[in-house]
Amino acid sequence: MEELTLKSTIQVVQLSELTDMERAVVEKAKESTYNSYAPYSHFHVGAAILLKNGTIIPGCNQENAAFPSGLCAERSALFAAGAQYPDQPVLILAIAVRNSKGEFLEEPASPCGSCRQVIVETETRYNQPIRILLYGTKYTYAIDGIKQLMPLSFTEL
Ligand code: THU
Repeated sequence: MEELTLKSTIQVVQLSELTDMERAVVEKAKESTYNSYAPYSHFHVGAAILLKNGTIIPGCNQENAAFPSGLCAERSALFAAGAQYPDQPVLILAIAVRNSKGEFLEEPASPCGSCRQVIVETETRYNQPIRILLYGTKYTYAIDGIKQLMPLSFTEL
């Protein structure tokens, strides 16, 4: 038997260690948590995406009484970007979360499996790895490309 060990690299950083542009995208993700519609989970997720043309697209989770009809923050931003700027590669995706007390999480939350799959598709579509920034008040995770979070992912293109 042969065993394959997969390795992921995640940078653990303070906001001061990010570039001005990266910090601006994180700030937009934090701001977007205030537009989250989360009356069921009270988990307010904000996302923001930087496109190659410099546009920042916000997103946030949108829940529904029929649970599967809602959508995560990451996909709401990625699909909004695809709908408005279909020819623009995505360079950065930032995520921030506030809990039911309205406080930002101390430790970063990471994207669900469905969002990871959509991030894989976006990287494949534009042939452009996405810098993923997961904000927490104690530290932020900075990740170069979804492969670090989703090895052996499924793509058809
Ligand atoms: N949620 C996101 O917005 N992004 C994720 O990656 C994980 C979960 C949302 C979905 C739901 O509105 C709430 O967080 C609780 O799961």
